[in-house]
Amino acid sequence: MTTIQETPPAGVSMESVLADFTRKYPCYQASYALDQLRTREYARLDRRGHAYLDYTGGGLYAERQVLEHQGLLLNNVYGNPHSINPTSSLATEMVEKSRRYVLEFFNASPEEYAVIFTANASGALKLVGESYPFNPGSQLLLTFDNHNSVNGIREFARARSARLTYLAMSAPDLRMDENLLLSYLESADPHQNNLFAFPAQSNFSGVQHSLEWITAAQQRGWDVIADCAAFVATNRLDLSRWHPDFVPLSFYKMFGYPTGLGCLLARKTALEKLHRPWFSGGSVFAASVRGDAYYLADNEAGYEDGTVNYLDIPAVEIGLQHLNATGIDLIHERVMCLTGWLLETLQSLRHKNGTPLVKIYGPQDTHMRGGTIPLNILDPDGKVIDERIIEQAAMERLISIRTGCFCNPGAGEIAFNLPKAALGGMFAGGERLGYDEYLALLGLPSSGALRVSLGLVTNFADVYRFVEMTCTFLDRFPESIPLKPRTHC
Ligand SMILES: Cc1ncc(COP(=O)(O)O)c(C=O)c1O
Repeated sequence: MTTIQETPPAGVSMESVLADFTRKYPCYQASYALDQLRTREYARLDRRGHAYLDYTGGGLYAERQVLEHQGLLLNNVYGNPHSINPTSSLATEMVEKSRRYVLEFFNASPEEYAVIFTANASGALKLVGESYPFNPGSQLLLTFDNHNSVNGIREFARARSARLTYLAMSAPDLRMDENLLLSYLESADPHQNNLFAFPAQSNFSGVQHSLEWITAAQQRGWDVIADCAAFVATNRLDLSRWHPDFVPLSFYKMFGYPTGLGCLLARKTALEKLHRPWFSGGSVFAASVRGDAYYLADNEAGYEDGTVNYLDIPAVEIGLQHLNATGIDLIHERVMCLTGWLLETLQSLRHKNGTPLVKIYGPQDTHMRGGTIPLNILDPDGKVIDERIIEQAAMERLISIRTGCFCNPGAGEIAFNLPKAALGGMFAGGERLGYDEYLALLGLPSSGALRVSLGLVTNFADVYRFVEMTCTFLDRFPESIPLKPRTHC
């Protein structure tokens, strides 16, 4: 059974809240195996008293992942895989085994897809951006809610004079108008190189865009990046059903350990189209100094610069097996039960004067969304309370949430209705201002939000604790307190 140690919101017994919740969401108790898993493998969370609600920032690892990986390292000798000596061969074998398992996990055919190990999802996106054959006839189409690591591709496109288009979502649900998208997709010259990128799940709003967009775009002459970094930790990605050209992801977001590893799942036909801007140790088949030429290695090897992280890559298979054994669908079910409850509960909170305590950005229910909820807490006059004040209150209660704009400026600009002219003004002087100076320029008390994100072993007590902290702001105009200056959004 889930135990709740904290005091419930005034006048309501915590047992009755939990009883109501499980009555309404019977799937929660059906996922009791996750409570057992938490007790067995994630005991450090409760031992240290943490309510961890930043799974979109980073996932958490099970103890056995670390122990199993440690066992491999302590009982074997691995050498640099760029040789064929015994220790090198062993490392190569482990790297290739992990690579095969990544394909298996995502149900991707090895004939169709290559797995390129990278440092993280950003590294995977940079590989595509720097190598994509943009030219003056090409297009880059981006949705507003892309992560900055996708937005950055526009600089490669711009340098090669490709046309750049951003498609805005509309507030309040932060979803795209599909007809608008289709009309833009139609506009491409299919004989040119056209790249369309969107997040399978927005790391800002939790919105899940339709994966049907992949085929729709490909049929109209686009190559497609489906950014799955925020999607795959709690959703099944079946690459025998969906066939995006490029899928960037970070493994630590899925299962917490190790950090520093991600991959680009790339269709082999799409890879043939790319032109790497350089070569390096590891990525060449042959290179000559006197001959001043090189041949790139085939498939993934041509994209893995230098020595791969051969000691940590075996931990990727361990992590994926852990997710498989736990059941990605079970995790998804539980996350959605808790997300449903949290959305309903936060929306129901009212100050005594009847004004809402919480403003949630993006979808207000669980339809086509994941367990990521951006929000602000409001005072009784309906004004946003600076998210740094809330962050401090959360920190005092050992609640880990994310604040700011989550490296997703486009979604934030729409959610907070920030005007283009003012945003352009931020960059007009060519001089970087401080965070508070930007706020003054935009005429805002705060340009950030709070983000609560649920994952593998989130339980009712975690989300309850967040609600409880939120309730401490009922009927309050918090005094201004010294706030730490922000260093980035
Ligand atoms: C949707 C999305 N894409 C890309 C990234 C970048 O991931 P990383 O920082 O691991 O490179 C993130 C990180 O939060 C993300 O949520």
